[in-house]
Amino acid sequence: MRFQLKNVTRKFGQHVAVDGVNVDIERGEMVGVIGRSGAGKSTLLRMINRLVDPSDGSIHFGDVEVSALRGAGLRNWQRDCAMIFQQFNLVPRLDVLTNVLLGRLNHRPTALSILNIFTREERLMAIAALERLGIEQTALQPAGTLSGGQQQRVAIARALMQGPKVVLADEPIASLDPLNAKIVMDALKDINEREGITVMTNLHTLDTARNYCSRIIGMARGRVVFDGTPDELTAETVQEIYGADSHGAGIDESMTSTSIRIPAAANAAAAQSADFKALAVAEA
Ligand SMILES: Nc1ncnc2c1ncn2[C@@H]1O[C@H](COP(=O)(O)OP(=O)(O)OP(=O)(O)O)[C@@H](O)[C@H]1O
Ligand SMILES: [Mg+2]
Repeated sequence: MRFQLKNVTRKFGQHVAVDGVNVDIERGEMVGVIGRSGAGKSTLLRMINRLVDPSDGSIHFGDVEVSALRGAGLRNWQRDCAMIFQQFNLVPRLDVLTNVLLGRLNHRPTALSILNIFTREERLMAIAALERLGIEQTALQPAGTLSGGQQQRVAIARALMQGPKVVLADEPIASLDPLNAKIVMDALKDINEREGITVMTNLHTLDTARNYCSRIIGMARGRVVFDGTPDELTAETVQEIYGADSHGAGIDESMTSTSIRIPAAANAAAAQSADFKALAVAEA
């Protein structure tokens, strides 16, 4: 299903954080949102997930007006639209498996949720998700003892447990070293390609957006100043998005880069793991 942002605006007091954004995203797109600090990237994602309400405009997913949802409808949307954060947002003292199972909460009756009772099928699904991300060996460790890259993979496994239609990621690799950044971006790309899940991710490294996204949205001062393919993003547009510094010096693309070159084999573990969807369906 496609989703649409129509004139989406968010003000904080007098400050306009997001200013009249119009965007249509087709099902299965992988969209990177770039822009300098304060451009409104996080606010935009948070409005889509309804962690923040728009001050004006509307958000639609297929026939549903997301921005008008309340109660159970809103909870269902937040299940369909999984969110991944820079700081992972896991429960550090709970084991990895339980953290992943928490992604299932919105699928079950409240009483069972409160008691933290999960079925055998759900546990198998969670293990399959961890296998897919190459971290099944950490299942019984407290999440807080994992490395940043592993924790972000746990967060992605938890998002998969929601059975999402859309995955939103707010700077998912900003706290990671280049190798872990690659593993996490490859995992998001894999979800996008294999399940056809729409992925929209804020990124502060332009080369990552170019490498992984079929479409890039550039924001400056709350507005969309670029919306197109990586090839269409010219040096002038990059200047407009990131602006010149206080000395008038321009920005060089390499300044926003953290990339390293490693062979594709580095992510073989994730590629080899059992097909998540097939397993999930088989167990259902
Ligand atoms: N809850 C809030 N209350 C007041 N102002 C806010 C709030 N959230 C965001 N803002 C302001 O809105 C603007 C956009 O913030 P936002 O976090 O969306 O930017 P960003 O593009 O994600 O930046 P960064 O790259 O630093 O994460 C900023 O000026 C910020 O200070
Ligand atoms: Mg942000």
